[in-house]
Amino acid sequence: MSETARNIVAIDGPAGAGKSTIARKVAEKLGYAFLDTGAMYRAATWRAMHLGIDLDDPAALAESTAAMVLDLREENGNQIVRVDGHDVTEAIRSPEVTRNIHKLDRSRGVRDRLVELQRTIGSRGPTVAEGRDIGTVVFPAAVCKVYLDASLQERARRRAEEFAKKGIHVNEGALAEEIRVRDEKDMTREIAPLRRAEDATVVDTTSMTPDEVVDVIVTLARFSC
Ligand code: DC
Repeated sequence: MSETARNIVAIDGPAGAGKSTIARKVAEKLGYAFLDTGAMYRAATWRAMHLGIDLDDPAALAESTAAMVLDLREENGNQIVRVDGHDVTEAIRSPEVTRNIHKLDRSRGVRDRLVELQRTIGSRGPTVAEGRDIGTVVFPAAVCKVYLDASLQERARRRAEEFAKKGIHVNEGALAEEIRVRDEKDMTREIAPLRRAEDATVVDTTSMTPDEVVDVIVTLARFSC
């Protein structure tokens, strides 16, 4: 078994299942690096939009992604994302970026480039990686795979709560519909669709606290993965 396979905790799941928060805490507890692959698709989308690249031109999107200078780092417990020297930590979470991601995440050229980068990062040392295709495509040999899920209603409630903390009030029903559409896009796309790897453990977080979820995954990673 390769070193990488043993050193990776792969966490996949739909939008709003709490992957980022949970994966970051699991990484902290295990002393592993944390890799937020969604941030990479967001960064590639921000760059293409910033440069006015035609989002319907897959070749141009792949070229832009290959040319992107991406810097992901943890500073004071927060993930800072820089693209070509610009701090885009906030900008990559904007509704405009979120709306356009599917134009990039269905492009083979974009995915190949980002998957290559993810494997390079994962080969540097023990890593908790989260996304949609970590256990199925990026690190299929990983020994520890988790599929995080939660009901649509609960995921919308959590997202609304996150927005509320930032002083933004959103309609939970509209948010649920947005998440449902994104799930459908993620699950039905041709390349690397979101699905549970056959050897992944499903953790339904609907009625769990974040700390409970973290404990379950840390235990899995330490003892059974
Ligand atoms: O986890 P997130 O919401 O930041 O991810 C943003 C989008 O990026 C998500 O809608 C699908 C895409 N994505 C992907 O296709 N593959 C990944 N490994 C991670 C994210």
